[in-house]
Amino acid sequence: MNEASTIARNDSTRVLEKLRREAVGLDAHYPVAGGGERRRTYLDSSASTLRLSIVQEVLDRYQPHYANTHSTLHYAARVSTTEYDWAHRVVLEFTGADPVNWMCFFTGSGATAGMNRVARTLRRARPERDMVVTSMMEHHSNDLPHRKHFPEVVHIASESSSDALGCVDLARMREVFEQHGARINYVAITGVSNVTGIVNPIHEIAALAHRHGALIVVDAAQMAAHVPIRTSGHADPARDLDVVVFSGHKVYAPGSPGVVVARRELFASTEPEEVGGGMVDTVWQDRYTVSAGFPEREEAGTPNVPGAIGLAAALYTLQQVGMATIAAEESELMSYALAQLAGVPGITLYGATDPKVCVRTGAVTFNLEGCEHGFTAAVLNDYFNIAVRNECFCAHPYVREMVTISLEDSADGLSNDELELLAQQRRGMVRASFGIYNTRSDVDALVAALHSITARKDELLALYDRLPNGDFRHRTFSFDCANAFSVRGAVDELLGV
Ligand SMILES: Cc1ncc(COP(=O)(O)O)c(C=O)c1O
Repeated sequence: MNEASTIARNDSTRVLEKLRREAVGLDAHYPVAGGGERRRTYLDSSASTLRLSIVQEVLDRYQPHYANTHSTLHYAARVSTTEYDWAHRVVLEFTGADPVNWMCFFTGSGATAGMNRVARTLRRARPERDMVVTSMMEHHSNDLPHRKHFPEVVHIASESSSDALGCVDLARMREVFEQHGARINYVAITGVSNVTGIVNPIHEIAALAHRHGALIVVDAAQMAAHVPIRTSGHADPARDLDVVVFSGHKVYAPGSPGVVVARRELFASTEPEEVGGGMVDTVWQDRYTVSAGFPEREEAGTPNVPGAIGLAAALYTLQQVGMATIAAEESELMSYALAQLAGVPGITLYGATDPKVCVRTGAVTFNLEGCEHGFTAAVLNDYFNIAVRNECFCAHPYVREMVTISLEDSADGLSNDELELLAQQRRGMVRASFGIYNTRSDVDALVAALHSITARKDELLALYDRLPNGDFRHRTFSFDCANAFSVRGAVDELLGV
């Protein structure tokens, strides 16, 4: 290793250490059921990451210069427009997309808004191809938009080995292409599962789709924070990605601006789905001409400028560490988490855990024997101040599939219908998910808490009521949100009223 690369690596480690210490809310304290309060262990980054304090600081510095980007003359409008344009360039750089042939635009609420726009546009742009291929692993946001806009959507199951599911089954996907290749508009596939953290082979899927004239649309909502994205520039251009979608709240930025990165030609051939101010050149009473340029064409209305700037600040910050460095660090944390969790008595870990079978990043899901997921998550929160998510993570088919597999061993004698009913009743699990601020000590805290829950299960169960919706409520301990924060309380205090 030469001196320059050693310095670069040291720098990247230093920046990463700084970011780790300074995420907003990392040291939040809340009261716990055992008495007193505890520092929170945040293990819910797959839902939303904490924002980086550096991003917050950048936004605070920007606020005095905030103006509408559709005003172009005055100084603050020029600052806002310049930075908003820069935000687009950073998104393209971060996703490794060549700006000559790819463009990006911001959408409304999260990756969901982006995916809906993509489905509607590609349906109209390529009407002769009326089928979408997706996987069983998908978040509903990368499933329902395709179902809504296409007459047929094929869901490919995951590979299965030693009773655990791995990444999407490529052999099955090849068969579907052999059978329906000419009808398939695109493959919509997640880069990283929000349930198991399993990483899919998106570039192999791209090559397969392109051989049949289909496109690949990657849901990068989970991928963006954990794994480098390389949209274009592969030695074999068939491995390039056509569309990549993600959103700010999962990459350490505030709010949820959605982003679509796409080949220009795909969005240039049809009129944009959204129309209004900012995307037209001239409007007469009986007609209008749509701007030829991107991102204007796809960004009708006043954009969420602070959202885009916050997202760009976060992506630029991550680039200073290097996504390869982040991926390597997180891979180490994931191996540690899987090994430690495997030692908890009565735990079921979902998805393949052998790294030779599939790579995983960012999330682990599990259940404890004899504990409903709602109970485990409630005790982790109430007694240990460990923030996790439970239930189905907006991925019902995938969770049902994994729960069914885990029940099969103990379900001898049940018919398929009975097994399905049982899986539906037991549907749900607990997810611990990680961001750059998590360390081995957070995993240790989780594992110690799970050991304690297992050991004291009966005693703890007696302290909770099970509500009809499956949530568990402590009988004597309760948390009053207003003691932590309320908008009204904050405004009153600031006004001195
Ligand atoms: C894999 C995946 N895709 C899509 C989404 C939807 O993203 P958003 O909430 O930004 O619309 C999520 C959110 O959890 C996700 O995890």
